[in-house]
Amino acid sequence: MKPLKIGVAGLGTVGTGVLRLLAEHGEALAERCGRSIEITGVCARDRDKPRDVDVSGFEWFDDPVTMARSSSIDVLVELIGGSDGIAQICIEAALVAGKHVVTANKALLAQHGNALARLAEENLVALNFEAAVAGGIPVVKTLRESLAGNRIDRVYGIFNGTCNYILSRMQSEGHTFEAVLAEAQRKGYAEADPTFDVDGQDTAHKLAILSSLAFGREVSYDSIYLEGIRSITPADIEAAAELGYRIKLLGVAEQSEQGVEQRVHPTMVPKSRAIAQVDGVANCVAVCGDFVGDLMLVGPGAGAKPTASSVVSDLADIARGFIHPAFTIPTARLQPHVKAEIRGHAGGYYIRLSVHDRPGAMASIASRMAEQTISLDSIVQKRPLASALSEPVEESTPIPVVMITHRTTESAIRAALDAIEADGYISEKPQMIRIEKL
Ligand code: HSE
Repeated sequence: MKPLKIGVAGLGTVGTGVLRLLAEHGEALAERCGRSIEITGVCARDRDKPRDVDVSGFEWFDDPVTMARSSSIDVLVELIGGSDGIAQICIEAALVAGKHVVTANKALLAQHGNALARLAEENLVALNFEAAVAGGIPVVKTLRESLAGNRIDRVYGIFNGTCNYILSRMQSEGHTFEAVLAEAQRKGYAEADPTFDVDGQDTAHKLAILSSLAFGREVSYDSIYLEGIRSITPADIEAAAELGYRIKLLGVAEQSEQGVEQRVHPTMVPKSRAIAQVDGVANCVAVCGDFVGDLMLVGPGAGAKPTASSVVSDLADIARGFIHPAFTIPTARLQPHVKAEIRGHAGGYYIRLSVHDRPGAMASIASRMAEQTISLDSIVQKRPLASALSEPVEESTPIPVVMITHRTTESAIRAALDAIEADGYISEKPQMIRIEKL
């Protein structure tokens, strides 16, 4: 059989990883696929940049769109990144020209996945993206193939290594978010501009893709409820540990009677659960299927070699002739996304308040919770022992009060916190973290 000819657009960490993998395992891969996979073209911004792989044997393209349309390739591997711009333009050009596309671009798929999947179908080519979600973890194929016989009720996990590293270090060292972020940047674990990671967008991009694959619905990034990890303090980490929890940034998508709840936010998970033990830059993806039960895949969510492993698995599918709709079901048969509002979310909550030391403060807080029929599991006023004999002084440092609620609704919690803020007994915005029993 003729070799599968590929053009690689983007020669950064992942692009050079793909070149090295194919150089190292090309023969074994050809055995497994029944044909060889050969790089014929490459393209990057700077031809002369020093690289640890030799690209002199490949046709060089300055313009990824020209390469996408070139007769010398069958597949465009897009590793440029970005939710639009040149990555989108060259993928569209490749699909229209009848070339298969393999991409690791989660931001692009989250924003334009429905239209790109349609374009791939119209042109009878593949749009594969195993590397776009959780790097080396083979979750796209797991959902598409291995779990095809299940109704999926929930998919969730830790999809961002930067946030998981920061929260793990805050836990182990007791440092602030800012201090750990600076350390992660020094070590090269966090980007110079960490916004997309720490504010949750990167997790949300991956969640949008997983949610579509799991539930057979159109991708709907804009309907994801989003909170990042900047507000998490050492006091929260410590209180969570005392209560038997760890704080993780989770992406969660689940079906409910109201539609699909998609949310990304810091979450307290019981420390005895497997997900609480996923530390450092590792990712994990958990899936609940009606026949298979609960599954969890754990592994590297980024990096040259794991991500290249996923890119090449997509190339292997194309080489073998396995061409399937991008989101498993043809786009015309994907259900529209129906958003379940976060206000309808039900669960337990951790609340931390900074309370002025005044008579009536605790009574007011308790009555505001009771008005919303919120039942408290525990309430702890973290007061230094020495102050037990002193007079309450309004101007003194506010005292942290930590509460854990029984199961209630998001709308009840928000109403109670609004009323507590309006009463004037607290000195800063309340901290609220959702608790997942999982
Ligand atoms: N920046 C991501 C992370 C990896 O920190 O996990 C790529 O999505």
